[in-house]
Amino acid sequence: MPNNEVARYLETTPKSRAIWEEACRYLPDGDSRHSIFWNPYPIFTESAQGSVVTDADGVERLDFINTMTTMILGHGPAPVLEAARQQMELGLAYNSPNRHQVELARLLCERIPSFQQVRFTNSGTEATLNTLRAARAFTGRSKFAKVEGGYHGTHDAVLVSLRIDPATGGDYDNPQPVPSSGGLAEGTLDQAVIIPYNDVETARRILEENRDELAAVIVEPVMGSVGMLPAETAYLAMLRDFADDSGALLIFDEVISFRVAPGGAQEYYGVTPDMTALGKIVGGGFPVGAFGGRSDVMSLYSPAKGAAIAHGGTFNANPITMAAGAATLNELTPTVYRRLAELTEMLRQGIRQVCSELEQPVLVTGAGSLFGIHFTEGPLRNYRDIALTDKDLAGRVFMGMLNEGFLLAPNLVGALSTCLGEVEIHAFVRGFRRVLQRQV
Ligand SMILES: Cc1ncc(COP(=O)(O)O)c(C=O)c1O
Repeated sequence: MPNNEVARYLETTPKSRAIWEEACRYLPDGDSRHSIFWNPYPIFTESAQGSVVTDADGVERLDFINTMTTMILGHGPAPVLEAARQQMELGLAYNSPNRHQVELARLLCERIPSFQQVRFTNSGTEATLNTLRAARAFTGRSKFAKVEGGYHGTHDAVLVSLRIDPATGGDYDNPQPVPSSGGLAEGTLDQAVIIPYNDVETARRILEENRDELAAVIVEPVMGSVGMLPAETAYLAMLRDFADDSGALLIFDEVISFRVAPGGAQEYYGVTPDMTALGKIVGGGFPVGAFGGRSDVMSLYSPAKGAAIAHGGTFNANPITMAAGAATLNELTPTVYRRLAELTEMLRQGIRQVCSELEQPVLVTGAGSLFGIHFTEGPLRNYRDIALTDKDLAGRVFMGMLNEGFLLAPNLVGALSTCLGEVEIHAFVRGFRRVLQRQV
């Protein structure tokens, strides 16, 4: 069947196209963020309110990605706006600590099992960078293990073996580090030990082979941007056990997975890491990152004790982000998490039902309010399985869903906000059915 989705997209988004063409004169491919680019060009957003995002052409779409999982309360939640507005009246940025930072730190330490202490940054990238640096300083070792396909931001160390062509990554049971960006410092690949996700035996063997050299193992408890693929509990338990045996630190990257439960995925799975990186929802929509964990590790960040690790950042813990983050967390009660999880399961079931009726193989993954749609017969346990799914169909469905008025990430992952209810979910499933009928 011909793909008319792009033609319809071009017809309905002429103003986005015009802005994008101008943008390309000043910015490479018209933007500052690879992950939200798609062909032929992305839409430009004019405004966002609740569950609705309006583009430059005035087209309204229901938001099922919520700023790559960040806007868990939807767009413009009143308590968060009010907290940010009040703080803005009192000053935008200070050269001293502020009390909102203390409130957000307390909320995080009360909720997250591994958090004895925390520090703030302006991005998840800086958060994972600091967890790895802390692990190196604490253990006196240099290498770290990461999962093939795992995304931890854009600093050198972690731009290894993500979204690679598996043919370049070595045998499945002996994966080799592959650069995922140009410009990495010499020696970067030598520091990374690559393990497959959700394969207890293979990963343990590889970890044991590097046992005395590993400062840390870093893992997303739910692999996020690559497909919202949850870890198996036994896998995380194995990593905990290996870290205990070997002296390496276990780091959870919960930049995305923190939204699955009040205490994040570590509460959901009952596996407690040594250190955790956060971002996205904890800033309430403002730029943020946070890292925290054991106080003996975090004390390396104590300036009064000699600051074993350097840590600056003009806007770290800026009062507006901290006020918005604290206001967001205060809205997120256990009841809210339960409802989000229920609604997301309803969405997953709806998608499965449509695919079953149309005889389209699918696996719908996720945990809590996160979901991923994968056109495959399965199995789906790790990155190499994800690499085998039907990406062409996913791309056409993404464009089709845009045309039907629904926002997702181009690889069909998404995250609900509290502004989406049963009505919107039924609408999404109906839209998905129409799109799939046009494609299969
Ligand atoms: C799991 C994970 N870690 C780290 C990051 C990096 O966070 P940031 O984009 O704030 O630098 C992301 C961003 O999407 C992420 O999904």
